[in-house]
Amino acid sequence: MKEIISVALKTRKVGVDIAGWKTDMLVVGCFSGEQRADPLLKELDRRLAGAIRRLRLLGDFEGKDESNAIIYGNEKTGAKRILLVGLGEKKDVTLDTVRKAAAIAAKKAVELKAKNVGLALHRPLGSHLDLQAVGRALGEGTYFGSYRYDEYVTSGQNDRLKSLKIAVIDSDSAKIKKLAQGVAGGVAMGRAQSYARTLANRPGNVINPPALAREARKLARQLKNVTCTVYDAKQLKAKGMGGILAVGAGSKSEPRFIALKYNGGPRAAAKPTVGLVGKAITFDSGGISIKPSANMDQMKLDKSGGIAVLGAVKAIAELKLPVNVYGVVPSAENMPGGSSYRPGDIVTTYSGKTVEVLNTDAEGRMILCDGLAWAVKQKCDVIIDIATLTGACMVALGKYKAGLFGNDDSLIKQLQKASKDSGEKLWHMPSGDEYAKEMKSKIADLRNIGGKWGGACTAAAFLGQFVGDTTWAHLDIAGMDIFAKPTESTAEGSTGFGVRLLTTYLINLTQKNKT
Ligand code: BES
Ligand code: MN
Ligand code: ZN
Repeated sequence: MKEIISVALKTRKVGVDIAGWKTDMLVVGCFSGEQRADPLLKELDRRLAGAIRRLRLLGDFEGKDESNAIIYGNEKTGAKRILLVGLGEKKDVTLDTVRKAAAIAAKKAVELKAKNVGLALHRPLGSHLDLQAVGRALGEGTYFGSYRYDEYVTSGQNDRLKSLKIAVIDSDSAKIKKLAQGVAGGVAMGRAQSYARTLANRPGNVINPPALAREARKLARQLKNVTCTVYDAKQLKAKGMGGILAVGAGSKSEPRFIALKYNGGPRAAAKPTVGLVGKAITFDSGGISIKPSANMDQMKLDKSGGIAVLGAVKAIAELKLPVNVYGVVPSAENMPGGSSYRPGDIVTTYSGKTVEVLNTDAEGRMILCDGLAWAVKQKCDVIIDIATLTGACMVALGKYKAGLFGNDDSLIKQLQKASKDSGEKLWHMPSGDEYAKEMKSKIADLRNIGGKWGGACTAAAFLGQFVGDTTWAHLDIAGMDIFAKPTESTAEGSTGFGVRLLTTYLINLTQKNKT
C-alpha cells in the first residue's frame, strides 16, 4: 500500500554548527522551568538576537508537555523555522513524551508544508533514557504525527505536502549510531501503524471481508517468511466455523477467515509460538438487534482489532523477529436482512461449544471464539486477542486506556511492560468465575450476553471459555480505535491502536532469554 504522505526518516551526523544547518524547520525540545538551556538553544537565541528569550519572558511558551511555539529564522540561522516543542518537567520525561513531541513536530511540518525537517528533540534528554529506545520513539512518533487520511478527497489536494524528509541530527557520531539502531525499528513500527490506520479508515463499502482477505494476501506476498490462508464461506462450512458464518449470514459480502503465519527462523524454536487474534467486523450495524443510527458510521472501524494484527505481523516480519506468530483475523459484516442470524438462534461454534444468541449486536465474541479455538488447535503457547468488543469497556475506562483481561499473571505483566514502552495504554480488569457463570445458558453451553452490569468483563469471560488452558490475554479496544477529532499530535480517524503494543510485546519477548 502506498503511503499517503511518504515519509523518509534518517539519522544524520552534522557538523558542530547545528544552528547553521540548512533546513525548512529545525525542531528543538525544551523542558519547562529549565534555567540551564541546551547550548543549541542558546546559540539559536544569540543568532536570533534574543527572540527565544523574549518569547519565554512573555510567557507565550513555557515548555509544557504537548505545547509548541514557532520562531522564524534569519540569515544567521540555517533553519527557516525553529519549532520549540515542550517536553514538560525533566523529572517526568518518558519515552512517550519523546514520541508525542516527535508526532507534534511531524504534524506541524505537514501543516506548514515544511518538506525538510531536522529533529534535535533528543538533545536535552538525560541519560536515564536509552538512546536506542529514544530513536525508536522518534521514529514511531514521526509516522504517527504526519499521518493523514484523504485517499478519497479529489478536490483541493494539489498543494498538500506529498513527502516529508526528516533527519534526526546530532554532531556526536556515537550518539547517532545508537539513535540509528532505534530509528530503524521505529520506522518499521511507524509504517506498520500507518498501514493499519489507512486500512481501518477505509469504509465498509470499500473494505468488506473478501476485500480484507485480499489485502492480507497482498501483505503476505510483500513480506518474507509470511504465508496467508483464507477460508471462504464454503470452507467455513466445511470446517464448522459456525460463529463466523452466523454473523456473516445477513450480509451480501461473505465472511472470511484469514490466517497469516510468520516463521521466525531457527532462533524462534526457543520462544513460545504466539497467536494474535483480531476482530474484523468490516461494519457493525448490530444486525437484527440493530444499533441506534447516531454515530453508526463509526462502526466501520469495528475491524480495527483484526487490522492491528495485520499491522503487527507486517512490523515483526520487517524487523525479522525470531519468534513464530500466527495472525488470525476472522472477518464478517454484521447486517440485518432476511438471511441474518436472529436472537434466540443456537449456533455451533468451531470448538464444538454451542451458543444461544440473545443479541446479534454481541457479534464480536461470536467470530472471535472461532478464531481463538483455531489458534488453540495450532498449538499456540500464548494467545492474545484484540477487539473493539464492548461499549461497556468504554464506559468503564473512557477513551484513554484499553481493557486488559487474561488468565496468566506473567502475560499480564509482559503486556503492561509493552504498554509502558509503546505508549498504548492498558488497564487490568477482572474476568473470573463469577463473570463466566453469567454467560451460561439453559438451552446451550453458553449465551452471548450477560446481565446488565460489567459487560466488558462478561464478554472477556465468554472468550476465556474457548482457550482451554492456553496462556491467554484479551484486549478490549472499544473507544481506542478512533479519534473523533484531531489531537495535538495526530489527525482524526483510525488510531492504529494495538500495532505498537503487540509489536513491542513481541520485541520484548525476543530480547529476553527466559520466556
Ligand atoms: N462493536 C461493538 C462495541 C463498540 C461500541 C465498539 C462502541 C466501539 C464503540 C460491539 O459489537 C457491540 O455492539 N457490543 C455490544 C454488546 C452488547 C450487545 C452485549 C455493546 O457494547 O453494546
Ligand atoms: Mn456489535
Ligand atoms: Zn462490533
